[in-house]
Formats: sequence, structure tokens, C-alpha cells
Amino acid sequence: MGISVASEVSPAAQIRFRGVGKSYDRAAGPVLENVDLDVLTGELLAVVGPSGCGKSTLLNVVAGLTQVSEGAVELADPDLRCAYVFQSPRLLPWRSVTGNVEFALEQTGLDRTERRRRAREALDLVNLTEHGGRYPHQLSGGMQQRAALARGLTLEPKLLLLDEPFAALDALTRGYLQEELLAIVRRAGTTTILVTHDIDEALLLADRVVVMSSRPARIRQLFKVPFARHEGDLDEALSHPEFVPLRHAVRALLRPDVMGPGSEPVGHRS
Ligand SMILES: Nc1ncnc2c1ncn2[C@@H]1O[C@H](COP(=O)(O)OP(=O)(O)OP(=O)(O)O)[C@@H](O)[C@H]1O
Ligand SMILES: [Mg+2]
Repeated sequence: MGISVASEVSPAAQIRFRGVGKSYDRAAGPVLENVDLDVLTGELLAVVGPSGCGKSTLLNVVAGLTQVSEGAVELADPDLRCAYVFQSPRLLPWRSVTGNVEFALEQTGLDRTERRRRAREALDLVNLTEHGGRYPHQLSGGMQQRAALARGLTLEPKLLLLDEPFAALDALTRGYLQEELLAIVRRAGTTTILVTHDIDEALLLADRVVVMSSRPARIRQLFKVPFARHEGDLDEALSHPEFVPLRHAVRALLRPDVMGPGSEPVGHRS
């Protein structure tokens, strides 16, 4: 049990969840139950679900930070370069922003000049160029989150795990960074799992959206997003005729788990 190397994984699947279950504590019951899912090479898969259902746990399992209790997670290529942008920024407080981004590159064998160049490029992407010399405690929450995103992107990963990476950002910055991120992962063909509580963000960015149930988290439904997103223009997707019906379907699916069973939208009560 645990992370294993798949012997006969079809080339299209980068990660396969096979009957994955996870319990931290037997008395508290499972967090994940019977998760079967293929994450396809190069796709952007969004995961939405109620708070506490097990979304971060799902990413931790892929990253090998925690062991599954049942089933297995199979990686087509266990040596794949992976970056994980955690839900909380987890910056090193004694290092500057640039130092934090460079830190990610210290195991890569790149020389110092190249590390600095790559770090600067990543900070440019998240619009933190001017703040590279600052320390984490001198940054706002949104800036810390952007620094953490830069630290992930600088690795030029083939597999990118993102845990609510835009949650602390103001709406304007979030919109621009969503477009940047989409362009980066599309260009590089990065397989990306994006955990988000923002349904619009999931539909705007993802090829497919997994909706999880409340604890124990199971896959409630998998939606294929039927419209193409073009670089630098997410508004086009927003105005697609399928956008609102899909948002409605995902919201309706999540509602009982978030608001309690039997809950109906206010307008529907008699
Ligand atoms: N290391 C751990 N030890 C024990 N329980 C844990 C641990 N990590 C998570 N849990 C529990 O597992 C459940 C799922 O946690 P997880 O962080 O995966 O949820 P989440 O869907 O990411 O939540 P949120 O949307 O609030 O970020 C929670 O009940 C949490 O308390
Ligand atoms: Mg979480």
C-alpha cells in the first residue's frame, strides 16, 4: 500500500488513484474513501469540496507526504519534477523573498547565477520583483502567497500541486494571476491539480472538475469543462453559454454538504 509505480499505466494517465482511502485516526473515521481517479498528463484538474473534506489530504497523498490507508496512488513517472504550493505559504522567515524562491532550486544542481536568474523570473511572474529583498514578515498575506507560488513555479515542474493558491489574493490580482498560471501550465504542458473553494475559478481554469463530498470525501461527480480557454482571455470563458449552467450544477451538488441536508436556496422555500 502507498505510493507505487504503475507497471501498466496508459500513457495518458500521470496519476492513478485506485480505491484510495485515508484515515488519520481510526476513531474519527476515514477522511478519504474509495477514491478512483485518473489525472491525465498535461491536464489541469480542479478539486472542489466542503471545508475539511480532505482536499489537502488528497494532495499530500500525491506528494508522498502522507501514506494512504487503503488502495494506492500510482505515478506513471515517480521521478517527475513536482512542485507543491501549500495552503499556507510556509516561507522560511530567515530568508528574503528571493532567498525563499532560490531555496527551491538549491537541490537542482543549477549554479548560483542561474538560480538567481530563475528566481527573478518567477518573482516577475507574480509581480513581486520589487519585493525580492523583503522578509516574509514584511509582506501582506497575498504577497506571501504569491511568493510561495513563485517558489513552486521556479522549479518548472511537470506536476504542479496547488492548494488554494489564490485564496488570500484580492480579486484583481487573482484574476491576472489565474491568467498567468493558465498560460504557464499550458505552455509547459504541466499536469496540475488545483484545489480551490471557488467554483468559478475551477470552471475558468480546469479541463475537468472533481466535486468531493463532505467527510469522508468521495468523488461525487467529475465534470468535463466543455469550453476552451484562450491565453490572456478568461472573460471569453465566463461568457460561454455553458458556464452558468455548469456553475449551477456544481453549486447544487455541493449545497447539501455545505449548508446541511434538505437545505434549499432561499428563493425555493415555500
Ligand atoms: N495530520 C493530520 N492528523 C489528523 N487529522 C488530520 C490531519 N490532517 C488533516 N486531518 C483531518 O482530516 C480532515 C481533512 O483535512 P484536510 O486538510 O485534508 O481538509 P480540506 O478539504 O483541505 O479542508 P479546507 O478546505 O478547510 O482546507 C479534517 O477533519 C482534518 O482535521
Ligand atoms: Mg485544505
